Amino acid sequence: MSEKLAIHGGPKAKTTPNYPMYPGGLEIGEEEKKQVMEVLDNQYLFRYYGPKNVPSKVREFENAFKAKMGSPYALATSSCTGALISSLVACGVGPGDEVIVTGYTFFASCAAIVAAKGIPVIAEVDETLTIDPADVEKKITPATKAIVAVHMRGVPCNMDAIMDIAKRYNLKVIEDCAQAVGGTYKGQYVGTFGDCGCFSFQYHKTITAGEGGMILAKDARIYDRCCSYHDTAACWRPDRFAEQRYEGELFCGSNFRMSELAGAVMLAQLGRLDYLNAAMRSHQKRIIEQIKDTKGIKVRPCNDPEGDTGICLMFYLDSAEKVSPFCDALQAEGVDAKAVFNSGIPDWHIYHHWKHVMQKKAPSEVCCPWECPYHKEKAADVEYEADMNPKTLEYLGRIVHLDIPAQMTDEDCDMIAKAINKVAAVLA
Ligand SMILES: Cc1ncc(COP(=O)(O)O)c(C=O)c1O
Repeated sequence: MSEKLAIHGGPKAKTTPNYPMYPGGLEIGEEEKKQVMEVLDNQYLFRYYGPKNVPSKVREFENAFKAKMGSPYALATSSCTGALISSLVACGVGPGDEVIVTGYTFFASCAAIVAAKGIPVIAEVDETLTIDPADVEKKITPATKAIVAVHMRGVPCNMDAIMDIAKRYNLKVIEDCAQAVGGTYKGQYVGTFGDCGCFSFQYHKTITAGEGGMILAKDARIYDRCCSYHDTAACWRPDRFAEQRYEGELFCGSNFRMSELAGAVMLAQLGRLDYLNAAMRSHQKRIIEQIKDTKGIKVRPCNDPEGDTGICLMFYLDSAEKVSPFCDALQAEGVDAKAVFNSGIPDWHIYHHWKHVMQKKAPSEVCCPWECPYHKEKAADVEYEADMNPKTLEYLGRIVHLDIPAQMTDEDCDMIAKAINKVAAVLA
């Protein structure tokens, strides 16, 4: 007989408190303080110069990050959004170009395309909740310039398929690794497959300085162009007033530079990445081990389970109607589980709610990028409907999501698994 659910007055399966999802943020301690105090003691707050001849923390962080990831070039930025915009521009995205992005990502991945004057084309996800390569291929037109592949909720995209498509159609690939820092695909770090890999160090992310970002690049010229765009004053150049060294090196940009204070915190946080990911992976595995055969639920498949950073647990129920009662019951058991797609509650991670894209809202009356005359020469208008990607909405409608804080204990994991099994026995 099944146990009485807490929502029906039974005892709770999870009696310990839930940690907030700030994996790196909750670890901030002596190492971060030491690094920040060095910046303040030296009064050296700007990466390119200061009163003393001391090494830049931002530069040190870039060097450490690229060495860890195995990438030839790294550029720290003030955010992942800034990293994405700089990378898209550096890859040559501009007026008239289409960029294919997934319909399940934080809205920033799409907004960055518009900021780079590209036209977003929104592709379906597959059951892994990362971009569906088959749908990407269907959505390619003569105007397509790039693909933004988002390693969503810690899970790597199918990079073999994406890179194969990119090669066949001569497209650039920008990886959005905001939610998958330290994730891998077939043993290689995400962010090192495409032309650029973009990372976020915003407070909710695995390692953090409150705000911050990073670009990894494979190619020297793309890296130079990222540098140019991220720093409109081009302070980074060996001689900032010199002529450009090649066509396309210098142009007007924005300011997405990382500050030395953020660089200092990130240097300390990078040292925490491996143990944070190891802890989240081990918690996730421990729970999955106990629920993988439970009737009525299916754990989200992964393109490479070894490469999943383990930041969350997502599982499918067999119908969307069951999700809300299931989550309510889990909440009553003491587990912070949430539904993902509910057409009534806006969530900026789902294209269905991106009204400003659906309605092609631009900041001026000239509706750039959608009315771009250069685009009209190459392809038909891109149109959007809230229900245009039914597979994405169907998958998201059936999914239950739980964060996996690194600070959880094995006991917490076992209680979570117990709660899921208890609720599934009655409601799945
Ligand atoms: C998938 C994804 N891309 C991009 C971003 C934007 O990152 P940032 O806040 O650093 O600009 C986020 C942030 O939540 C994200 O989750």
